[in-house]
Amino acid sequence: MRLNQLIATTKAMVAGDKGLLAMDESNPTCNKRFAQWGIPQTEESRRAYRELIITTPNLNKYISGVILYDETIRQQQKNGTSFLQFIIETGIIPGIKVDTGTQGMAGHLGEKITTGLDHLRDRLQEYFQMGARFAKWRTVITIGDGIPSQGCIEVNAQNLACYAALCQEAGLVPIVEPEVLMDGTHTLERCGEVTAEVLRTVFNQLYIQRVVLEGMILKPNMVLPGSTCSRQDSIDEVADATVNCFLRTVPAAVPGIAFLSGGQPDELASARLNAINLRFKLQSPWALAFSFGRAIQKPALEIWQGKDANILAAQQALLHRAKCNYTARQGKYNSEMEGERA
Ligand code: 13P
Repeated sequence: MRLNQLIATTKAMVAGDKGLLAMDESNPTCNKRFAQWGIPQTEESRRAYRELIITTPNLNKYISGVILYDETIRQQQKNGTSFLQFIIETGIIPGIKVDTGTQGMAGHLGEKITTGLDHLRDRLQEYFQMGARFAKWRTVITIGDGIPSQGCIEVNAQNLACYAALCQEAGLVPIVEPEVLMDGTHTLERCGEVTAEVLRTVFNQLYIQRVVLEGMILKPNMVLPGSTCSRQDSIDEVADATVNCFLRTVPAAVPGIAFLSGGQPDELASARLNAINLRFKLQSPWALAFSFGRAIQKPALEIWQGKDANILAAQQALLHRAKCNYTARQGKYNSEMEGERA
């Protein structure tokens, strides 16, 4: 019964061309983004910003689930309604980031290991009882001179699988996020090689640790040229490299691939998601969805600036990006949509 529910939740997370909204920035990351706009770096500002996001009218038309942070999942709206209750009542599935960030990996200069396995079983139980139905764990893989190393890929894959197995035991759908970062001068081909190697290792570990593939979501990077690579490939080349990489490495039993945006410009992220669906939606074994953070939130944060008077305009901008990505899942997004909001 529990497994049936887990699989039903997994399917609901990627159903109807909707996607996930990542709003699970840790306090230091959220504060860093606030600092750019002179917004006070306080718990109250973070609360007010997250209230703005979740109370955006009609968000549930385009967004199936939101990923929260530990501070956020315990917060309330100004009127006293708990965030979690409000999210559930609007028909959006609440999720929670459960990794505790990254640390430099011992003996591996320039590489990182994700932490958070300590007491994870108890934390997951608490989140499930609160009402969360899925979780997220992000590992980061850096491309550079002589890296990533096999050690870094393997330890992060093992930890991802260990986390995923614990989530399923607790009744939470694990979002498995091995992010190959786009920083660097590497080519599209190199990103494709590294992404394939990472995914092979991750799925081998998921198999070894008995994770049910039908009850998980993969959250990968798109296969992209490094952000400072001299050759920036076309949108269609990116779409082909991305899906071909997954066809070789991701089992068809996985219900959904929900891409992260990874710092891509927001309109370009929508255009690439659109090309991916336009070219592959019909023959793809998995839903080709989105789980964007910055590529949905960025314009809204810029407009809000911490001021109540800007809330409505910020919510319109947020909804617009959500709609653009929903439309991209249908392969019907185009740049003319970007004029609609104005
Ligand atoms: P970005 O889309 O901003 O990369 O964030 C997604 C996310 O949840 C990273 O863990």
